[in-house]
Amino acid sequence: MPDRLELAVVVPTFNESANVAALVAKLDQALAGRSWEAIFVDDNSPDGTADIARELGRSDPRVRVIQRIGRRGLSSACIEGMCATAAPVVAVIDGDMQHDETLLPRMLDALEGDETLDVVVGSRFVEGGGTGEWDRDRVAKSAFATRLSRRVLKADLSDPMSGFFMIRTGIVRDLVPTLSAIGFKILLDIMTASPRPLKFIELPYVFRTRELGESKLDHVVAMEYLIALYDRMFGRIIPVRFAMFSAIGALGAAVHFVVLALSFGLDFITFFQATIIATVVAMTFNFFLNNALTYREQRLKGAAALFGGWVSFCVVCAVGAVANIGVASFLFDVEHGDWRFAALAGILVSAVWNFVLSSRFVWGR
Ligand code: GDD
Ligand code: MN
Repeated sequence: MPDRLELAVVVPTFNESANVAALVAKLDQALAGRSWEAIFVDDNSPDGTADIARELGRSDPRVRVIQRIGRRGLSSACIEGMCATAAPVVAVIDGDMQHDETLLPRMLDALEGDETLDVVVGSRFVEGGGTGEWDRDRVAKSAFATRLSRRVLKADLSDPMSGFFMIRTGIVRDLVPTLSAIGFKILLDIMTASPRPLKFIELPYVFRTRELGESKLDHVVAMEYLIALYDRMFGRIIPVRFAMFSAIGALGAAVHFVVLALSFGLDFITFFQATIIATVVAMTFNFFLNNALTYREQRLKGAAALFGGWVSFCVVCAVGAVANIGVASFLFDVEHGDWRFAALAGILVSAVWNFVLSSRFVWGR
């Protein structure tokens, strides 16, 4: 066995307790004769995945564990794992054995044999690969996601959605500040972050069926994919969080109008009262939507935290509204006329104010 560490296999896990030991056994078999370590990056799984991996690590020091507390995310977990090794080469592989670990030695040989090569990608879409037992629905969704990725990806990768690949560690380390780290698609993130085209090859594999545990791919993950694409395309011009915050703000304005119209329609409510009702409803709507989407990584949970957050959000927005009115009427006075410009400027100022202050004081840590 080579005496210098060749490879780190990064395994992102969330609730994979039933798979950890079997995966390590498979790695041990596949990588016989190579010098490797496995790094499980676990987001504090309630099923005790990290404990099981640590227990394995006590008898086999090649098994390491990073346990992240209070954070979630496949991509960000992979990045942390890749940065936590001394090995010159890292692989990322799912913890549920759906990826074909027997490919690892060939991936490693390819990188060790060709200094100019940067990445080896496990692909389901080259000759010999396949998606296994996927139903038509999932095949169609995956194909659609792949098509969307072409908008940000220049390279001619057959399977940019793949979560199974091997890369030189230094490349990832250098790219970290420019990675979006959002969602599931870490390979796409890396390939599109690199200022120079990365040289890659693809090796075929067939996606296996998951035997134990459950998939974490859901609607939130799908939405995160779109957010990550937005981030790559326009994130430098309008940061993704601000864009979401503003879009939700616009929805809130629509809610405001509807509630205002409905409550003013009742004859015992004055316009002033209806405005107060509409404002409170719209702010509450915005608070919960931002909590669920814009700030989902630092989401407030539990009645007390939610109530405190809601109160401070309302205070921030109230000041924002005053700023809006102040700026708009000031501009209207000096400009003597174009009320649309004045209104727009007022809205922009209050949007920035609400965003900056609430990200600091409502969802800040
Ligand atoms: N640390 C951490 N945090 N790990 C996570 C999280 C998370 O929030 N979410 C999922 N994982 C881990 C799972 O435990 C599993 O080991 C791996 O990431 C893949 O998650 P699955 O839920 O099994 O995803 P999948 O099978 O639907 O998707 C896989 O296949 C895609 C191919 O279309 C992933 O590997 C994708 O990356 C891959 O592109
Ligand atoms: Mn899976």
